[in-house]
Amino acid sequence: MKERVFRGYVKETLGPAPAERTLEAAEKRVAFDERSDEDQAELMYQIEGLTSERRDFVRSMKKEEESEGTGWTLKRVGTRLVRVPVPTEGKGRTTYAAEAKEATAARLDDIQKQLNALGEIPGLHETYEQKLNKMYFLAKAHRAYEANAFRIQEINQQISEIRERAHLSRGGAIVGATRAQVEKLEVERDRLMRVNDGAMKQERPAMEEKLNKLKADVETLKAAAGKKPTERQKEEMRKLLHSYDELRYELEGFSAYESGGLFRRIEQLRSYADEFAKGRMIEIPSMKELVEEGLDHMRNHQPFLLAGHLGSGKTEIARHMAKMFMIENGVGYDKAKDTDMDEVYNRLEPEVYSGGEEASVYDLIGKLKLVGKASMDPKEIKQRTDKLAEELEAAGIKGVPREKIAELLLGKGDVTETVFNYGPFGRALRDGKPIIIDEVNLIPPEVIGRINDVMLRGVGDPVHLQENGEEALVMKKGFAVLSTCNLGEKYEGIKDVNAAFKSRWVAREVDYPPVGETYDLILTALVRKDRTRLPPNFPAAEFEKLADLAVAAREIQELFSGQTEGQRFMSLATGVRAEKSQLQKGVVSTRDLMRKIIAPWKQKDFKVPLDDIIAKNILASEILARESKDDQKFMAEIFLRRGFFHGWDEDTFRSLGIQSITKREIDALQAAQGTDEYKNADTRFGKLLQGAKDRVSGLKASLLVGNIDLQKRRKTVTRPT
Ligand SMILES: Nc1ncnc2c1ncn2[C@@H]1O[C@H](COP(=O)(O)OP(=O)(O)O)[C@@H](O)[C@H]1O
Ligand SMILES: [Mg+2]
Repeated sequence: MKERVFRGYVKETLGPAPAERTLEAAEKRVAFDERSDEDQAELMYQIEGLTSERRDFVRSMKKEEESEGTGWTLKRVGTRLVRVPVPTEGKGRTTYAAEAKEATAARLDDIQKQLNALGEIPGLHETYEQKLNKMYFLAKAHRAYEANAFRIQEINQQISEIRERAHLSRGGAIVGATRAQVEKLEVERDRLMRVNDGAMKQERPAMEEKLNKLKADVETLKAAAGKKPTERQKEEMRKLLHSYDELRYELEGFSAYESGGLFRRIEQLRSYADEFAKGRMIEIPSMKELVEEGLDHMRNHQPFLLAGHLGSGKTEIARHMAKMFMIENGVGYDKAKDTDMDEVYNRLEPEVYSGGEEASVYDLIGKLKLVGKASMDPKEIKQRTDKLAEELEAAGIKGVPREKIAELLLGKGDVTETVFNYGPFGRALRDGKPIIIDEVNLIPPEVIGRINDVMLRGVGDPVHLQENGEEALVMKKGFAVLSTCNLGEKYEGIKDVNAAFKSRWVAREVDYPPVGETYDLILTALVRKDRTRLPPNFPAAEFEKLADLAVAAREIQELFSGQTEGQRFMSLATGVRAEKSQLQKGVVSTRDLMRKIIAPWKQKDFKVPLDDIIAKNILASEILARESKDDQKFMAEIFLRRGFFHGWDEDTFRSLGIQSITKREIDALQAAQGTDEYKNADTRFGKLLQGAKDRVSGLKASLLVGNIDLQKRRKTVTRPT
């Protein structure tokens, strides 16, 4: 049966289907089915883009109407900032300018025209409707999942209340009917939990078999009973049907889980892609946690340090936190006028100071500087001259001519004066903004000491800027200090040496993200602007490889950050055992992954193979080629083991700038592949890979181009009658 849920909506959006229009217009159009995949995808993007713009406009117009007579404030809900209306008296009314209203109406009109023009393409209505129905079906499944989760909570609550009551009245024993009630609730909860955990995945085939058997049993019983079943047969039939219903219910729940999970994944990717398209950091769970924590410390006026290895995203997270903090505190923009939060987010810049050995308190806070004197205002000269003359007279020095006094004041021929040149920290204090001290480990301890002094002041306290003649400032709410630090000896250094640092700062380590999150970052950077599909030229064959890439990166990151040791099978070539070691210089950090692999690959429209990009941009990089051939080789080996560079020989590597790998080593690695040692060396990352691939399988069909059809609906077993 074809679903028709969105028929009305589609017609409203795209106008009447071509068949209902004058055929002339439609005939000029190439039918949707006859277009290329790329074309088809592009059309879908266009519709999505237009309808979502329309939705946003309509929403914001509605909001304006609702918020009339109210002001509003910004609240952070999850990763988003939302406008929350607050009642105000008289002041702060937001009025929607008439021109803005007109412009909006014109744009809406334009959008509608464009949508109607698209609607003239034969076959487009049907495809779009199918797509909506698919999303609707997934959303329904998603809701089933949520409903289960809610019911589980509810049951837990009920059980704990029953327990509490029992505890109060009978000293804890739950007996009789109450006990039966609890057991019944527990059975229901366990089933729901199994459904939502996806734990039924393995059970599914057995369950389906059992279901079919029950069905057959019902048929057999029916045949045996004939037209006049006995009471016993009736009773047995009831039982069979009851079991049948229970089982079918579980299976349906499982389908809901599968599709609901997919829906959740797609929605998650969509919101990630949205952040990414706006040039923001993607709040993957591990980073989100840090952001939340960091913001809390900023609110408490506590300096927060992010320590981590190269390219793990420290600076990025710090910037993101700082911007969020500025938005929260209304710093750097006009809370009443600036309504486009994306634009505000992009525009806001916290103060940043990048560390270096030669950094001084003066660079950081500010210094007095001699500058050319601006010609003084004549009025001011007169005032000051009068004042000095009075003072001189009061002191008994009389009769000094005014011109002399003026000369004295200005300093004859003296054309300079001192001004205070604020450094980033000084500006942050003065303006009440956050400051990021990047790579704080490179900064001398006395500089950090000065920061600690300042951080002892509470919000509203006076702060004296001794560097500027004790300039009196007041500690503002929006001031906060964040810093980043590269892990290594230096970090240990500041931790141990600087007691004040240790007691005052809150430090958190930033690890590279877990494989699943890295995988999501990769996908996010790849999907196209409709945010749910990969670009048309994306080589479908490479899709599976993305999981391998995430796992290879993770393995390399663990070897680099010293979390694990790895075996080198290439060293078997020289007769040495497969030695265990780590990486010293080479890493594929999150930053490398995003900037040196995914971005250039996408930018070249996938015409250059992924393997070549990895070889050229990572393995053949300066640092590895010059300073660490060992790391170059080891990293190449890890990629080879993950299935990259398939069939490459010494010459292929050389042609891409990798000189360290010999034919003998490639052979040795190949020869090792069948051995137990090789297999055992890989178990942990093998498991990670399996996990990553599981995450991938459901997504593939939804993400690849040209696959806009409804997902094949599962055959549902009908109840025997
Ligand atoms: N969650 C994320 N979302 C988007 N990009 C990220 C994310 N994490 C890392 N990146 C990429 O890595 C870069 C961050 O690295 P960076 O903050 O410079 O690392 P570090 O300061 O730890 O050396 C970003 O510019 C981006 O390209
Ligand atoms: Mg950095």
